[in-house]
Amino acid sequence: MDLLIISGGNPLSGTVAVSGSKNGTLPLLAASVLINGETILENVPDIYDVGTMIQMLRALGVKCTFIAPGTLKIDASDIQTASAPYDLVRRMRGSFYVAGALLGRLGQAQVPLPGGCVIGSRPVNFHINGFKALGADVEEKYGVMQAQASQLRGAKIFMEPRTRSVGATINILLAAVLAEGRTIIENASREPEVIACEQFLKQCGADISNGQGARLIINGVDELHGCRFRSIPDRMEVGTFLYATAVAGGDVTIQGSQPQHMDMVVRKLRNAGMKLEVAADSIRIVADRRPEAVDVITAPYPGFPTDLQPAHGVLASLANGTSIIEETIFDARFNYIDEIIRMGASAKVVGQVAIFKGTAKLSGAPVEATDIRAGAALVMAGLAAEGQTEIDGVHFLDRGYETLTSKLQSLGARIVRRGRADTQEALCLA
Ligand code: EPU
Repeated sequence: MDLLIISGGNPLSGTVAVSGSKNGTLPLLAASVLINGETILENVPDIYDVGTMIQMLRALGVKCTFIAPGTLKIDASDIQTASAPYDLVRRMRGSFYVAGALLGRLGQAQVPLPGGCVIGSRPVNFHINGFKALGADVEEKYGVMQAQASQLRGAKIFMEPRTRSVGATINILLAAVLAEGRTIIENASREPEVIACEQFLKQCGADISNGQGARLIINGVDELHGCRFRSIPDRMEVGTFLYATAVAGGDVTIQGSQPQHMDMVVRKLRNAGMKLEVAADSIRIVADRRPEAVDVITAPYPGFPTDLQPAHGVLASLANGTSIIEETIFDARFNYIDEIIRMGASAKVVGQVAIFKGTAKLSGAPVEATDIRAGAALVMAGLAAEGQTEIDGVHFLDRGYETLTSKLQSLGARIVRRGRADTQEALCLA
């Protein structure tokens, strides 16, 4: 297993380009199953989770070919099966998106139920209830969701505003675009990744519009045609570089981002005393002081993203004062805290709330990443800490970050990867 080794205490400086979004690209890959023809996706990040989804599409009989770096041609004309392999669903929960797409395209889907997850219990009941509302017969047997419908029909589907689901919104959308009649999703998730999926489907001929508030109106169409579409920039990667600079210090410009997706994060960092300059497609952060303590409550977009909660925890552990972080989306997303406590952070977790008493310095230590965002937070802690940090569990970072090590090196970070180089690029280009 690879390790990341960081010698901390070095400020970051320079310009870094953001890659395509993991959570924005996975739904597009699944959505291409709905299209009886060729689709070209651009800005596809070379990361492990995208590789897994490409393997999933190939297992279904969908042709996927990289025609240039980051540009993927997908042809689902000859889709062969509605059964998704367990090994791929097990690796990545996002692969459950093929359920809605297969149901929409073939009128059936056999997709293993994703199991537990280190960041919390992550059931798929909202997805399944949505498929049922659209008229599918769904059985959960032997660990597999088996759904079928001779004809899906539009329906009105409600989500609770506080527990709206990104994944269920996308899965229901994928099932509904080719259904007969009108589907309305009340309190649909409005994350940029969901909206990108809607835009892609519209460009392929789907009839999707927005009603008042977070109402999504989908009028079923007979078929979709292929298109060329560019995946949105990864707002979590943008946030990762912003927070890394905020805690390590320095002056960094993140290029190719869509700053309008970052409003809440920019606000929190400004409240923490960071200087941020927001331009049309870039954000510059100047971090020339110790951060001030700032409280955060995670919430669906446009609230503060749960995926950057661990990053804010690192900032809070170094801030001047006491910060309170409340995690409202996932029930086990404070795992990283025990690791940063080993680096000298002072924090206490009470249920879904973590209280951080800021300390002026962290010290390097061997630590272990338990998921993608916990891993990114440990990298930030390592960059800020005095001495050497060794991060185990690097494969989690490979799931969601493209060339993170070399991007940080280009900003002056003293970070190296030790061990076998990852072979994902070879897999994706196969
Ligand atoms: N939920 C249910 N039932 C469902 C679906 C969700 O109870 O059927 C609950 C979940 O357990 C959770 C909450 O609803 O407590 C929100 O979950 P949601 O469905 O919105 O999350 P997701 O679709 O599983 C995506 C991202 C996550 C990101 C969340 C929240 C992808 C592939 N994953 O997950 O990203 O944290 O939305 O924004 O898009 C990551 O990238 O590291 C990551 C975990």
